[in-house]
Amino acid sequence: MKFSERINCCSQSPMRKFHSDAELAKSRGIKIYQLNIGQPDILTPQSYFEVICNSIQPTLAYAPSPGIPALVSKMIRYYKELGVDYTPDDVLITAGGSEALSILMNCILDPGSEVIIPEPFYPNYHAFIETAGGVIRPLSTKVEEGYAYADKDKLETLINPNTRAILFTNPGNPTGVVLSEPQMRVIADVAKEHGLFVIGDEVYREFVYGGEQLLTIGMYEDIAENAVVIDSVSKRFSACGARIGALITKNKELRKNALKLCQSRLSVATQNQIAAAALYDLKQDYFSDARNEYKLRRDTIYRRLLAMSGVVCSEPKGAFYVMAKLPVDNTDTFQKWLLTDFQFNGATIMVAPGAGFYATPGMGMDEVRLAYVLCVEEIETAMDVLEAGMKVYNQNQN
Ligand SMILES: Cc1ncc(COP(=O)(O)O)c(C=O)c1O
Repeated sequence: MKFSERINCCSQSPMRKFHSDAELAKSRGIKIYQLNIGQPDILTPQSYFEVICNSIQPTLAYAPSPGIPALVSKMIRYYKELGVDYTPDDVLITAGGSEALSILMNCILDPGSEVIIPEPFYPNYHAFIETAGGVIRPLSTKVEEGYAYADKDKLETLINPNTRAILFTNPGNPTGVVLSEPQMRVIADVAKEHGLFVIGDEVYREFVYGGEQLLTIGMYEDIAENAVVIDSVSKRFSACGARIGALITKNKELRKNALKLCQSRLSVATQNQIAAAALYDLKQDYFSDARNEYKLRRDTIYRRLLAMSGVVCSEPKGAFYVMAKLPVDNTDTFQKWLLTDFQFNGATIMVAPGAGFYATPGMGMDEVRLAYVLCVEEIETAMDVLEAGMKVYNQNQN
């Protein structure tokens, strides 16, 4: 039997590929500090579970394919507070931002179509784009330049007749880059001038640490036809398991086509939508508490990385990741060794090797992404483990 070329091209997620080595290390009694995945440890608001418990229905029916009106209207209210007016016809509820991306790519890509993405980028974009027949056209960025990418010339040199969209994550996973309004305008103008979709993956919107205003690509009325926002409750409310997200666009044609796919998968989980709607009633201090906690973690991990000999990184301004260049030749081999051959006071560490965050072959081999999703004390210990690991690894290599 044969598998599709599209699925054969899909590679394993760099965040999860060492799972079996980690299980073996755990079975040997080793504690693992997991900085490899963006699973926050911040508590999910209690109101989510209360609503689930209180919404008992005689029959658990399918929800409407575009999403339940109560959740759609809460999202519209949320965007109104950001200064953007949407109507219920602009919002499609999806199973996380992941499904929104998958539906979107299936709507806008043909075989060989290209999507421009600044690299390093969220590795699952590969799967969403390539299983829809598309190709990632990376805009390479450098740690030494703070991973900057909002540059008209750099974007325009990548545009060709196959280009369909520009996709960026803001705040950035894995770089922590946060775009300023003028930088967003640059990208919006390029998309407008060349008739491209401009996709803002904004699932980390609230996580900015320098007092930046919360922005969205949906705020520009002159590119309303081009703009698509990918949203999610996963990170915003520390509710990754709720699997609730949204595809938001004022482009009627896109909406009409995306709805076909929403209808073919019938519905997003009814109870989860009802409970997610309640999350939008949380007060602002929920976000300020979470933001303060992540800022402490960001400051801790960045200070520790900077103090390590040979490590290069740029201060992340948002999301909860930092990309770092390590003084090791291959972070994939290094990660495997950390799990199979190393321990420091009975512990080791998991990070996400950098190569999977790039589309350009050979890039990111000496980089890792670290997710600062552990408390400050654990981050301190994890950094002790990383520092010791690099020393021993490099001694063994010489
Ligand atoms: C940049 C980015 N986009 C989208 C997602 C998808 O998240 P979810 O499907 O949980 O909404 C993630 C998850 O980590 C992410 O980091």
